[in-house]
Amino acid sequence: MRQIGIGIAGLGTVGAGVYKHLAQNRALLTERVGAELVVRRAVVRDVNKPRVAGPPPGELTTRWQDLIDDPAVDIVVELMGGIDEPLALINAAIDAGKVVVTGNKALLAEHGREIFARAAGKKVPVFFEASTAGGIPIIKTIREALIANHIVSIHGIINGTSNYILTRMTDAGLDFSTALAEAQAQGYAEADPTLDINGWDAAHKAIILASLAYGFWVETGNIFVEGIDKLTATDIRFAGELGYRVKLLAIIKADAGPENGGGVEVRVHPTLIPKTHVLASVSGVFNAVRVCGDVVGETLFYGRGAGQDPTASAVISDLAEAAVALNGERRCYGFTPHGLYGTCRPLEGIRSRYYLRLAVDDRPGVLAQVAGILGHNEIGISSVVQPETHDEAGRAQLVLMLDRASHRQMQTALDEILRLGCVMPPAALLRVESFGAE
Ligand code: NAP
Ligand code: HSE
Repeated sequence: MRQIGIGIAGLGTVGAGVYKHLAQNRALLTERVGAELVVRRAVVRDVNKPRVAGPPPGELTTRWQDLIDDPAVDIVVELMGGIDEPLALINAAIDAGKVVVTGNKALLAEHGREIFARAAGKKVPVFFEASTAGGIPIIKTIREALIANHIVSIHGIINGTSNYILTRMTDAGLDFSTALAEAQAQGYAEADPTLDINGWDAAHKAIILASLAYGFWVETGNIFVEGIDKLTATDIRFAGELGYRVKLLAIIKADAGPENGGGVEVRVHPTLIPKTHVLASVSGVFNAVRVCGDVVGETLFYGRGAGQDPTASAVISDLAEAAVALNGERRCYGFTPHGLYGTCRPLEGIRSRYYLRLAVDDRPGVLAQVAGILGHNEIGISSVVQPETHDEAGRAQLVLMLDRASHRQMQTALDEILRLGCVMPPAALLRVESFGAE
């Protein structure tokens, strides 16, 4: 049986999982791939660290260059995390003609354009299924299974850590830091969980999905990103009472109608989703991605979005494809640019519905002043709730559900509202998604 040599850079949560499952399912994989996938070397920071899964100590190294120099390594798997060293490793692997597999979404979001240009130039494929939505095969789906479609929209819950935290806060009443500690213990969070919390891990994945769907590399500076770090239990509760669940949602749309000014809209933020919508029921570490195509219509993909085993499943699917790629020419080396779209829509023009909560003085005329400002900014109010309870400072909570307005309109109105003497900053402003039903 032919053997294919693999060099793994990184034996942490994901790398160890890949090693473990390659060993566990060796016979099945060998039959399906038609060759045996053999790990020849692994790169780690500390060769003396005790490990539950990994090659014998003699095959460990701290130098990624050893993977490039080893003629027995055909495929380089980058699972270290970080930017500079993985970039140097992947570039060196491409230049050496070694097929690349990576799960590093931060690296692809920031350097995808140059990595894929280099890969196409050298005709060396780069696979990255594990970069987005853990075990859900969403990369292959968008790039291959939905090739017949113009993608109309993608809605994704694509950060397992933040979905886990929101679920535990909502359903079990945990505080934020306890829920985060649980997610870290399960291996869901990034080495630096800031990216999970501030929305940027989901944003990196949204960039990858949008770039695949629309054929131009979306720049990090062109998207709107807000994390769950400023979300309060009060707003989760009010949203629940109004019939919504709050999810960190990636929204990607290409509605080129004149009202929207053309271009592709890419944003990630906490979002109120109607409880009746299927995405509202996606809990814990689970991810879900809803893709609408002009030919296929609506599709939905669901699965574990982080953690050792689902991510290893995605990496090994890439390894199987990489093994086949070693045999010859390919149509695609990871990402195929095309010229249909090409721009991101500026944030100011992006329109959505809103949830707005204000702490206000409880006296006559306050609601009228707020409503007046919204009115002259042409923002309609669809409902208002003012519970009879007050906050610790004796202020009333005013919760307004607002009709569709642009980001610019909403910001202008909010600035004016916060200048009213009767309103106590900060306000809580969240977007509402109705999935095309607006
Ligand atoms: P991790 O648990 O922190 O493991 C990182 C591994 O890389 C460790 O084995 C570490 O060595 C090694 N490493 C890090 N920097 C190194 C360097 N400069 N030189 C040599 N070795 C180095 O990370 P992870 O959670 O497995 O994530 C790995 C990658 O997969 C990241 O890009 C992440 O974004 C991505 N990813 C993670 C998940 C997930 O659920 N965790 C899911 C999808 C994608 P030591 O063991 O000696 O410390
Ligand atoms: N930290 C990431 C998450 C890992 O929680 O979704 C999977 O990419």
